[in-house]
Amino acid sequence: MDLGLGDAAAVVVGGSRGMGLASARCLAEEGARVAVVGRSEADVAAAVGELAGRGSPDAVGLVADVRDAACVTSAFAELGRRWNGELNVLVNAVGPDVRGTFDVLTDEQWHDAVDDGVLSMVRCVRASLPMLRRAEWGRIVNFSAQSTQRQSASLAAYTAAKAMVTSASKNLSLLLARDEILVNVVSPGTVVTPALVGWAASVGVESDDPYRLMGLIDTEYGHAAQLPRAGMPDEIGAVVAFLASRRNSYMTGANVNVDGGSDFT
Ligand SMILES: NC(=O)c1ccc[n+]([C@@H]2O[C@H](COP(=O)([O-])OP(=O)(O)OC[C@H]3O[C@@H](n4cnc5c(N)ncnc54)[C@H](OP(=O)(O)O)[C@@H]3O)[C@@H](O)[C@H]2O)c1
Repeated sequence: MDLGLGDAAAVVVGGSRGMGLASARCLAEEGARVAVVGRSEADVAAAVGELAGRGSPDAVGLVADVRDAACVTSAFAELGRRWNGELNVLVNAVGPDVRGTFDVLTDEQWHDAVDDGVLSMVRCVRASLPMLRRAEWGRIVNFSAQSTQRQSASLAAYTAAKAMVTSASKNLSLLLARDEILVNVVSPGTVVTPALVGWAASVGVESDDPYRLMGLIDTEYGHAAQLPRAGMPDEIGAVVAFLASRRNSYMTGANVNVDGGSDFT
């Protein structure tokens, strides 16, 4: 199936690691010109090097902190200059890293969850909209989480922020429907990314084995999937690439679980 991404210009915010990088990789392999945004200069440079070898020789790396509104504005202005104002696809993969139960979370942690998890996406959408609206076609894909559909006590602020992403994305899909810019959400279950592996190490499990990590998630959060393993980033990246493509011509406002069947266990 040709996804029709051959002439696409795509930016993945949070594309220097994990599922953002996997999404960028899948987009590049389908022929899109890809830009990635992240804070670590070294990770951004490594991602650009990898994408150049995967079909995006003109890959662009932008070092920016999307918690900072001015930084977002200048990153997208730079992208506009580099690509002559052309942009078809925005993927927002940045998420909050706030853990704790409702009764212990501080105001600051709640603010952090919303700032990292929601406002980062809002700022990037605002900064990219003029370019997306000028383009012949446009797609936005935002990362939420399957955990919004099955609460974990210790992810109170994280899941609340992700639920905001899902709701705000639905609202955005309504606003942009007249422009035929399609907006969708992908909700991963447990996926083997540096963030997950780092968390596992913090609770004493040094492993990147998808079977072991799913077992750990089940023990710690009571979140097993039907499939006996965690997902791999490329398995989510492939779905993101489809949602972000021209081949997706009639899905908007959807929330797509890519979770190994977690929602009915
Ligand atoms: N892993 C899972 O099991 C899982 C499950 C459900 C949902 N999710 C969600 O899926 C998305 C991707 O998760 P992941 O595990 O792939 O994440 P990850 O491995 O931690 O990667 C996060 C990416 O976002 C960038 N980033 C983080 N904060 C940023 C900031 N303030 N400004 C700019 N870039 C920033 C990171 O680069 P720098 O740190 O260098 O900035 C990196 O490129 C997140 O929204 C996450 O909440 C993950």
